[in-house]
Amino acid sequence: MAKSIFWLLMTIALSVASGCATPPKSGKGFTLPEGDAEAGKQNYISFRCNACHKIEGIDQIAAEGEEPELSIALGGEVTRIETYGELVTSIINPSHRLAKGYPVEAVSVDGQSRMTVYNDVMTVTELTDLIAFVQSRYKLLEYEITDYPMYGP
Ligand code: HEC
Repeated sequence: MAKSIFWLLMTIALSVASGCATPPKSGKGFTLPEGDAEAGKQNYISFRCNACHKIEGIDQIAAEGEEPELSIALGGEVTRIETYGELVTSIINPSHRLAKGYPVEAVSVDGQSRMTVYNDVMTVTELTDLIAFVQSRYKLLEYEITDYPMYGP
């Protein structure tokens, strides 16, 4: 009996040590290609992010049909975005976690973020450029790029 418990514990210890503990839905290993911050700045303006956001160096424009008006700060050290993953998520899945520090009813309707969903209009390159730009305005925790070896001929 004691022996089988020993082996059970050994199996658990080994699977934890060999990395089986990473849940399948973990974001570990998720890596987007590097973006171009200068192009991202242009995208920020052409996608009219500045209708609802203020960011250092870009004037906010009047939002059409947005009542009440929105002025969510991006960048700096004051906001709550801490990691690259959170930043990407806040753009492609805005309702996943609403920006902190604003009344819920000001930033969302029925639990859904008032942020425009761009997933069907933005290319991945536009997204990565945009992220490179917005990221340059945040002080994020260090982002570790997953280094995949190249295979093939
Ligand atoms: C129609 C208004 C609107 C537009 C346009 C808009 N957003 Fe947002 N955005 C919001 C609102 C409201 C929030 C706060 C609720 C939330 O976290 O989703 C938000 C939150 C964010 C956050 C998270 C901020 C935080 O502190 O958690 C980021 C990053 C962001 N937006 C980036 C962008 C970018 C980049 C664009 C342009 C591609 C954009 N937004 C366009 C309304 C908008």
